[in-house]
Amino acid sequence: MVKNTPPMGWNSWNTFGWDINEEIVLSTADTMVKEGLLDAGYEYLVIDDCWAEDERDRDGRLVPNREKFPHGMKYVADYIHSKGLKFGIYSSDGYLTCAGFPASYQYEFIDAETFASWGVDFLKYDNCFKPSSIPARLLTHRMSFALENCGRDILFSSCCWGTESVKEWIKETGAHMWRSTGDILDNWASIKQIHYLQMDYQPFNGQGCFNDMDMLVVGMNGQGNVGLGGCTLTEYRTHFSLWCMLNSPLMLGCDIRNMSDDVKKIITNKEIIAINQDPAGRQPMLLQGFRNGVHEQFFIWAKHLEGGDLAVGVFNLLDHDERVFVGYDALGLDHTSDRVLKFRDVWNDREWIYRDGIKTVVPAHDCYVWRCSLLPYEK
Ligand code: GAL
Repeated sequence: MVKNTPPMGWNSWNTFGWDINEEIVLSTADTMVKEGLLDAGYEYLVIDDCWAEDERDRDGRLVPNREKFPHGMKYVADYIHSKGLKFGIYSSDGYLTCAGFPASYQYEFIDAETFASWGVDFLKYDNCFKPSSIPARLLTHRMSFALENCGRDILFSSCCWGTESVKEWIKETGAHMWRSTGDILDNWASIKQIHYLQMDYQPFNGQGCFNDMDMLVVGMNGQGNVGLGGCTLTEYRTHFSLWCMLNSPLMLGCDIRNMSDDVKKIITNKEIIAINQDPAGRQPMLLQGFRNGVHEQFFIWAKHLEGGDLAVGVFNLLDHDERVFVGYDALGLDHTSDRVLKFRDVWNDREWIYRDGIKTVVPAHDCYVWRCSLLPYEK
């Protein structure tokens, strides 16, 4: 097991897409350390698609694009490791990657060995251009087999977009994270859509094998490869809070070299990250928002944390402010429990103790997340 809690890091795709190169990767590594992102838990720096030459070499090995990565990938990996970070790369289970570069179908073992020889610590494995007669399940198993035997610990990040009932078989493969939807875009509609699609996935989400809701768009502000529209700061905070509550891996996607202080504050908030990284890795519970197969737009999620605390998040995806009351009954307590909860607001550094639940107004597109601790009821 390479990692028990949701993996955290940065991935090149959301902002840079085809235009990734050595200079961007090295300066991003510098920024991850300098700006405290590594300290906050973001340890993997992942180069997504578009890093390779169009042809393999004479021995069938993948070759990094000579213009984009003039010193090769071992050089990049060594630099990343020298900063205390881990290095991730991308391939696909088909003949080609989604952007049309050579991929790993029938090269699984040689590619795993190549990645290990470069010092790769993380593989994102896409699902493009595979023979339609071969199930993704089989090809995911095959790559997992290759990685387990390549002589290096490599975190396996599967990317089948929720197709082929992946949720049902992904744990067998040993993948540490698995994409549950299509690609995220940097706009509010996309964030809502990906969140709505998560309801059925929660029973399959847990320790060591996390449901990946896709790379974060926090801080993209409409710029870059998937920067279609952009979001407000409030929407980015709600997006980040949802990904944290639902145990998604936290892979940053903005150009962190140019992020604002407000964005940095969101992505480095230790208290919300601690809820995401809780060692128990328990499945979150949906307390409100999905009834009789129909999505509403106001969601209450809760998650039991190691040591006895409870995380509770209220998410207003409506376009107007909304009143909410989260009663103790809904959280599993009643008058016989003889306990109260202290609600700690993880975004606003405030705490309250209530006798029967919490009542508040959540502004449009906003959220509150509380870390709740149980205290004796004092008469
Ligand atoms: C998609 C994948 C994206 C990105 C892209 C690269 O299939 O979902 O996250 O990796 O391919 O071409």
